[in-house]
Parts: sequence; structure tokens; C-alpha cells
Amino acid sequence: MPPGSIPVLLIEDTPSLARVYAEYLKKESHTVISVETGADALVQLNDGAPKVVLLDLQLPDMNGMEVLKRIDAQALPCAVIVITAHGSVKAAVEAMRYGAYDFLVKPFSADRLVVTVRNAMERLRLAQLVDTFEKDLNRARYHGFIGSSLAMQAVYRIVDSAASSRATVFITGESGTGKEVCAEAIHRQSQRAARPFIAINCGAIPKDLMESEIFGHVKGSFTGAVSDREGAAARADGGTLFLDEICELAPDLQTKLLRFIQTGTFTPVGGSKLEKVDLRIVCATNRDPLREVEEGRFREDLYYRLHVIPIHLPPLREREDDVLEIARHYLAEFAKEEKKGFTRFSPQTEHALRHYHWPGNVRQLQNVVRIVAVLHDGDTVTPEMLPSPLGTPQPLQVLAAAAPAGAAAALRPHVPLSPDAIKPLWEVEKDAIEDAIAACDGNIPRAAALLQISASTIYRKRLAWQAEGKL
Ligand SMILES: Nc1ncnc2c1ncn2[C@@H]1O[C@H](COP(=O)(O)OP(=O)(O)OP(=O)(O)O)[C@@H](O)[C@H]1O
Ligand SMILES: [Mg+2]
Repeated sequence: MPPGSIPVLLIEDTPSLARVYAEYLKKESHTVISVETGADALVQLNDGAPKVVLLDLQLPDMNGMEVLKRIDAQALPCAVIVITAHGSVKAAVEAMRYGAYDFLVKPFSADRLVVTVRNAMERLRLAQLVDTFEKDLNRARYHGFIGSSLAMQAVYRIVDSAASSRATVFITGESGTGKEVCAEAIHRQSQRAARPFIAINCGAIPKDLMESEIFGHVKGSFTGAVSDREGAAARADGGTLFLDEICELAPDLQTKLLRFIQTGTFTPVGGSKLEKVDLRIVCATNRDPLREVEEGRFREDLYYRLHVIPIHLPPLREREDDVLEIARHYLAEFAKEEKKGFTRFSPQTEHALRHYHWPGNVRQLQNVVRIVAVLHDGDTVTPEMLPSPLGTPQPLQVLAAAAPAGAAAALRPHVPLSPDAIKPLWEVEKDAIEDAIAACDGNIPRAAALLQISASTIYRKRLAWQAEGKL
């Protein structure tokens, strides 16, 4: 939808300010309707048409909050951006509680206004698209996702509508909720599907190598740069660049990424030529990004550039019976892989699975099912087979005896014979991880499941050991 088709309703009683804001917005081809009082605003809102509303909270005839409450009560299709005076952030927070989309604290820059309005516009457009979708469309599978809960139907619809746009998607959600699955779904659903999907984990790559990982380098630009190397941005040309764990990005890289987003161009490390690419950025974090901004760890301007289409993945405990749908899928898959006869969960087991709170979300569920398939046998999974804290706790010896040889060694308590034989803790950890990987024939996700950690933890640790010359 081109800018201009949804109007911006500007409610500001100081004519000089209203003129300045309107000028900024018209430059961006927005249609601006300007009013000075709450009463006039309500007249404009009465037509029920979608609008982005810029609302000054201090109006001559009423408190701007009253306008906001009216919009909220009538569920008008508006995205409201509240304008507050410096020092009245409390009012802004209250406004957010009444459904405001965002707020601007006076004085703010033209850039900030334009980006905030653009994001609100995009949010409104998506909300409308979602509304027009058939409400009863009920999908149990969507790309890599399993689950027919209402919460996930909403996610699938946002991915559907966001996929065709080039706008940046910002995925949030607890660890293991499927943020990477979501990023891939966006790519597969888009017209870019035939082009590359390049994922970069900003938390796993050592800081000094990150710039070269994203933007590439030229031969000789630093020790170890033995030849020219393309970075992720160049490789993702025409496709999607997934920046995972975006909040871990170091401050200087945040600045470089911002410049790249603003210009679409970059210079490889040690290079002098500007390169241009056409890509779509998707990023993810399991942190609260606004908090990272507030605490000064993440650039605010970069956050607003990236946070155009937000997608929040609900925790597994809020997805109704998805737990069982996902568990059954993985039981079939892992039983086949492990050559076991499992076909079902007993009703008591299903009850335990449904009522557990799953702090590690889908990844934890996957691990639980994997452990059952590795350690037990039979047709039906019973509650005693579930690892603690879901089922009855299993003594370590039982786990060790039932696990494959290498993994069993990794689980056995390590008792050094003399002080000389004591190894540094990192080495003990490294041995346990490497033994588990070897026992699983190099299958890192499986080794991770048996060690009850995430595969990305293993990848991250291995990269760190490599960087420190310990591997
Ligand atoms: N709805 C789902 N159905 C089936 N499998 C899923 C679903 N969601 C996630 N998974 C699987 O769970 C695992 C974790 O998912 P993913 O890596 O995308 O999570 P994440 O949110 O990126 O986690 P983290 O924050 O720890 O990086 C993956 O193996 C993925 O395939
Ligand atoms: Mg992830």
C-alpha cells in the first residue's frame, strides 16, 4: 500500500508545531489531516476509516487521553502515536496501556517522526490484512511449524501477510519457541524463496570476526584473511538475511548495520569499493529489545529501523494442545530414527505433558521426547519414562547404563584420582561435549538432546574454543 492511502490524523494545538510535523510527513507522501482540538479529532475519527493518529496529550478542550480511550473503547482501526512533553513519560506509559502504538517525546527529530509513522502504518496495514483473512482458516502445519492453536494461527497469518513485503521483521519470543523456524517460514513464503536464506548468529561469532562475517573481507585485511571472502550480506543478495540474537551485536557493528540499512550499501573489511545488495532482513532475539534500548545496550535508531513488523512467538504453555501435536510428531520421527516401537503416549503421560510449564519451550519438548526414545522401549510412553522434572526422577546410573557408550561416559560422575589429574572445568566440559558428539556419530542436535542443552550452545562453545585455540 503506497504512503498516502491511509491518512495521518494530526491532533496538535500549537499551529507552528503542527505545520512542521505536517511538512515532514508530506515530504514522505503521507496525506495529513490536521486538527487542533479533541472535539474536531472525534469528528474525524467518527467515519471509522483506518488512520495513523498523532496525538498531543495536552489539548485545549480535553485531555488527549480521552481521545485515546474513545478509540480504544470503539476499537477503531487506528494506530495511535502519542506526543508528550519532555519529562512526562509516565503519561506515555499510561497511554500505551490504553492501546497507543508508540510515543514520541518532544522535541524529536524529523527522522524519528517519519520512522515511527512508517512503522505504525505498516502495523495498521498488516492488522487489516489479517482481519480480511478467513477467520476459520485452521492450519495444523505451516512450513516448519506444527500446531493448530489460535495463538499460532495468528502467527501464520502475520507471516502470510508480511512475506511479500521487503520490510524488516523483528521476531521475539522465549528461547526455543521457534524464532528460527519463523524466519525460514517468512523466507519460504516470500517471492525470495528461490534465492538464498543466510542465517548469522550474532551471539555465536567472536566479536572481531563479526564484521567480516556480515560484510566479508579482502585478502590481507587482517591476520588470517588469506583470500577475499564474501560475507553474509553478499551471499544473501536477492534473498533473506537472518540476524539471530540481534541484541548481542557489539555497538560498533550496530552502527555499521544501521548505515547498511539506511544506504543498502556496505564496504567489506579492508576494502574500498562500496557494494550494493538487495535483501530482506529478519532478526530475532529472546531478550526484551526495548529494555536493551532503555539500558543503553542497543541503539534506539537501529531498533526503530529493524522493528517494522514485529512477530511475537507465544510460549509453548500458551498454545493449547499444540504440545501434544508436536510431541506426537517427534515421537514418530525419533522412534523411527532410534529403531524403537513407540506409537503413542498414555493418557497420564499426555496429561503430564499438557500441564508442564515448558520453560525451554519446543526445544525442551523435543529433548524430552528424544530422551524417551533413546533410553526406553515399548509401544506406549508412560509417565515413568519422562525425565525429571516431568516424570519421576531417574538415578544417574540408570541414565548412564541406558545411554549409548560415549554418552554414558559423559554422564558418569568424573572422579579424579589425584590432584594432578584434575582438569580445568572448561576442559571437562569440552570432553563431555566432544565425547557425546562422537557417540552420536557427529549428530550435534542429538548429542545436545542427550546432554540436555541446546545445539546452539554446543556450536557457540565450539566456536569459542576454536577462537581460543583450545579445539
Ligand atoms: N511449532 C513447532 N513445531 C515443530 N517444531 C518446532 C516448532 N517450533 C520450534 N520447533 C523446533 O524446536 C527447535 C527450536 O526452535 P528454534 O531454534 O527455531 O527456536 P528459537 O526460538 O530460535 O530458540 P533460541 O532462542 O534458543 O535460539 C528446533 O529444532 C525447531 O525445529
Ligand atoms: Mg534461535
